[in-house]
Amino acid sequence: METFSSGQHTIYHGDALSVLASDRILDASIDLIFADPPYNIGKNFNGRPDKWPSEEAYCTWVSHWLDRCVRKLKPTGSLYVMCATQCFAPVDLLLRQRLTVLSRIVWHYDSSGVQAKRHFGSLWEPIFHCVMDPNKYTFNADAILVEAKTGAQRKLVDYRKKVPVQYNVKKVPGNAWYFPRVRYRMPEYERHPTQKPLALLERIVAASSNMGDVVLDPFAGTFTAARAAANLKRRSMSIEIDEDYLKIGLRRLELATEYKGECLHRPLKSYENGCSNESKNLTLFEQ
Ligand SMILES: C[S@@+](CC[C@H](N)C(=O)[O-])C[C@H]1O[C@@H](n2cnc3c(N)ncnc32)[C@H](O)[C@@H]1O
Repeated sequence: METFSSGQHTIYHGDALSVLASDRILDASIDLIFADPPYNIGKNFNGRPDKWPSEEAYCTWVSHWLDRCVRKLKPTGSLYVMCATQCFAPVDLLLRQRLTVLSRIVWHYDSSGVQAKRHFGSLWEPIFHCVMDPNKYTFNADAILVEAKTGAQRKLVDYRKKVPVQYNVKKVPGNAWYFPRVRYRMPEYERHPTQKPLALLERIVAASSNMGDVVLDPFAGTFTAARAAANLKRRSMSIEIDEDYLKIGLRRLELATEYKGECLHRPLKSYENGCSNESKNLTLFEQ
């Protein structure tokens, strides 16, 4: 298992189960865990299949890493878990057996791609927000306020009060979150099939951790959680099994400029290189 660290941000290149079972991450040391594992829906993570022999086998695997994650959390810690809509119910149960589920968040988005024609296509993903202790946990409501549309746009006054007051113009978001999916043309885009939006992770990190706290992501992918942690002056620990995704993390967290002799520049997008067809087979790097 390789480890890369700047002091503030650490990456473990390996299997989350082994890293979490080792003493590299101390028990009861983590403030916030964001776990976005493979969903068991057949995605292709760089050749590594995202399919277990059965739903039971998948849930057994989830319960193994979940137990290890819970051990790493501080008594005041929070855990967010994402899963496929198909697995919502069993994952909910696994979480309730170990923690308190405070919110079942729906992350919804739009898609211009072809959607299902014979049923209602899936345009949302679940995010569970859990805590170790429902009486003692971090929730920075003021850091994540959004516009309260009724108050802000219609400028309504509540005349039911003895002294009429204006409706609030800001509020804590409810449990249905709209964030666009990461598109190829967005600056944050990385080559990964399930990259999560930075804005979504910034909301989670801002709400459930404080400056200097440690955020752990056991299935880092493009290291969105760690990037959000860095942007908000938190520390981070990330685990990723795949070498290509590890390289994204090393670059995105500015932990290295090269890996095994390879420069870790962001690959140019097709519209950035000026001569897209001719240069298809060339490896181009941003200067
Ligand atoms: C759903 S993606 C995470 C996406 C990430 N949240 C992002 O924003 O890019 C799951 C990631 O887990 C990695 N992975 C799969 N099995 C793993 C394991 N046993 N240990 C560590 N990482 C694993 C995959 O390579 C994939 O990058």
